[in-house]
Amino acid sequence: MQKRYGGFVRSNYLCVVLCLVAIVNAEDPYRFFTWNVTYGDIYPMGVLQQGILINGQFPGPEIYSVTNDNLIINVFNNLPEPFLISWNGIQQRRNSYQDGVYGTNCPIPPGQNFTYKLQVKDQIGSFYYFPSLGFQKAAGGYGAIKILSRPRIPVPFPDPADDYSILIGDAYSTNHTRLEKIMDLGWRLPFPDGILINGRGDGGVSYNVEQGKTYRLRISNVGLQNSLNFRIENHTMTLVEVEGTHTVQTSLSSLDIHVGQSYSVLVTADQPPQDYYIAVSSRFTSQNLNTTAILRYSNSGKAVSGTPPPPIDTDITWSLNQARSIRTNLTASGPRPNPQGSYHYGQINITRTIKITGSASIIDRKQRYNVNGVSFIQADTPLKLADYFNISGVFKVGSIPDVPTNQNPYLDTSVMGADFRDFIEIVFENRENIMQSWHLDGYSFFVVGMDGGIWSDTSRNDYNLIDAVSRSTVQVYPKSWTAIYVALDNVGMWNIRNEFWVRQYLGEQFYLRVYSPVMSIRDEYLLPENALLCGQAVGKKS
Ligand SMILES: *[C@@H]1O[C@H](CO)[C@@H](O)[C@H](O)[C@H]1NC(C)=O
Ligand SMILES: *[C@@H]1O[C@H](CO)[C@@H](O)[C@H](O)[C@H]1NC(C)=O
Ligand SMILES: *[C@@H]1O[C@H](CO)[C@@H](O)[C@H](O)[C@H]1NC(C)=O
Ligand SMILES: *[C@@H]1O[C@H](CO)[C@@H](O)[C@H](O)[C@H]1NC(C)=O
Ligand SMILES: *[C@@H]1O[C@H](CO)[C@@H](O)[C@H](O)[C@H]1NC(C)=O
Ligand SMILES: *[C@@H]1O[C@H](CO)[C@@H](O)[C@H](O)[C@H]1NC(C)=O
Ligand SMILES: *[C@@H]1O[C@H](CO)[C@@H](O)[C@H](O)[C@H]1NC(C)=O
Ligand SMILES: *[C@@H]1O[C@H](CO)[C@@H](O)[C@H](O)[C@H]1NC(C)=O
Repeated sequence: MQKRYGGFVRSNYLCVVLCLVAIVNAEDPYRFFTWNVTYGDIYPMGVLQQGILINGQFPGPEIYSVTNDNLIINVFNNLPEPFLISWNGIQQRRNSYQDGVYGTNCPIPPGQNFTYKLQVKDQIGSFYYFPSLGFQKAAGGYGAIKILSRPRIPVPFPDPADDYSILIGDAYSTNHTRLEKIMDLGWRLPFPDGILINGRGDGGVSYNVEQGKTYRLRISNVGLQNSLNFRIENHTMTLVEVEGTHTVQTSLSSLDIHVGQSYSVLVTADQPPQDYYIAVSSRFTSQNLNTTAILRYSNSGKAVSGTPPPPIDTDITWSLNQARSIRTNLTASGPRPNPQGSYHYGQINITRTIKITGSASIIDRKQRYNVNGVSFIQADTPLKLADYFNISGVFKVGSIPDVPTNQNPYLDTSVMGADFRDFIEIVFENRENIMQSWHLDGYSFFVVGMDGGIWSDTSRNDYNLIDAVSRSTVQVYPKSWTAIYVALDNVGMWNIRNEFWVRQYLGEQFYLRVYSPVMSIRDEYLLPENALLCGQAVGKKS
């Protein structure tokens, strides 16, 4: 019989169902989910809104999993509009068909369903899912994903007394269809109206702790644009994990979490028994958003009072230094028993350097955003399907340059080609006065350098080639650069985007087509049998 972890199988009935599946695939356990996606009333900022609920919940249900689990998630779209879910940081190895962005999947039409078949292969850590179409992310539909280590793989800290997912993010009181309309007209969106913690406004959530015990908090910024600072009144936090990397454990009084990012901290309830503020506020913007949740001791004798703790350091240099101080614990295990430091990324020769500059531009009198001068527009057919079925004319590999150019920005369905097994360097250059936060689907990458000013070849001299963290979303500070190394070991069509959602929506994204000339399921799975077909792929046979 298949060994199962985490107390997932609790009844014999479940075992009858699951053990049958286990015979089909003797390797890795399965977890099944059925999700009903509907609109429902939510009051995130005291104002009634139609939120996107999953099984009646906002945020959606948390996915609990263990390294290598197969997650079979049947999503029923009961919204009156198309819907897709993407899995931020889940690598979908050899399987970009499950990535759930419009470049890889047809939207699930209203009243229909699609079953995602994911595997959290060789991953641990904290991630989240979210609706990827349009501006649906502003309406909810997101939730946390936890991937625990397998039981025999050591984790570099004792089991916490509990493990809470905390989804934080800025939000609007205007609904997502209205926001889309504003952007489609080419106008600028107003600044968000507030910050939510697990879908609630100020003081709306509390986390219960027992004095003397230590808790793991997994915090993800699921918001739309703002970098957020997270802190707990009179408590220090110990950073332990960043998007699947166990970090050198450092003590923090506050932590900056940029849009799209996830971190785990440990917090010990070591203060007098009462309630404490958990405070979250926006960073580096002229307008200030903030909100609170409550850390409640079980024997609490006092409610919170007075003002929540303000952010201690507000400048970019502090934040940059904090980011650079986050290191991989080389001797700790990751998803496998061997130490995380056993892969010597710093000794591999780079085969290509790509420079990415995101910027704003007006095209056809509308507000747009672009990458290296190309503002991404969706094609009528998911790019991955066009690729699979050899449908020409949907996109062109090479429709975005490797480096910024001086050309006038233009619209295109931009796809950059890359070779399977290349080891590349990507330099994100931010020439603007705002924060950027870049995400690469299908991969995690090493964050080797980050600094103010303009990147040059000599910037490489200061790269961290020893213990940089491997993650999937990285910030780029205003008028600064960030450099990453990526081993292109995952064939597929992968979205690269600014997680600043207006910018993503209006063109600041493209696809990286990682290509292997050998058509083998060792490198890439076949199109799944249940794949939805749309656009020019309608009627093709999978
Ligand atoms: C989904 O939820 C809606 C609204 O509660 C309900 O009408 C519908 O029957 C549900 N569908 C499924 C498949 O559970
Ligand atoms: C959003 O608000 C507009 C009015 O501003 C309304 O017409 C529309 O139905 C709303 N959409 C949703 C999904 O609630
Ligand atoms: C829709 O759900 C049914 C089970 O209710 C399942 O058999 C079918 O494969 C699902 N469709 C897709 C496209 O995944
Ligand atoms: C690094 O991981 C090792 C092995 O699990 C652990 O013993 C050690 O405490 C960790 N060190 C730091 C500084 O996090
Ligand atoms: C936090 O600690 C300070 C300094 O010890 C103390 O003055 C303050 O009352 C504490 N705050 C709460 C809410 O207990
Ligand atoms: C929270 O926001 C309000 C209104 O913008 C501001 O007055 C207050 O100073 C902020 N508080 C903190 C702790 O940043
Ligand atoms: C990297 O390149 C250098 C020369 O540019 C070469 O000497 C070295 O062997 C290469 N290393 C690997 C691991 O290929
Ligand atoms: C697409 O073209 C490739 C190479 O020409 C071929 O191997 C493959 O079978 C074609 N795929 C389909 C679905 O026709």
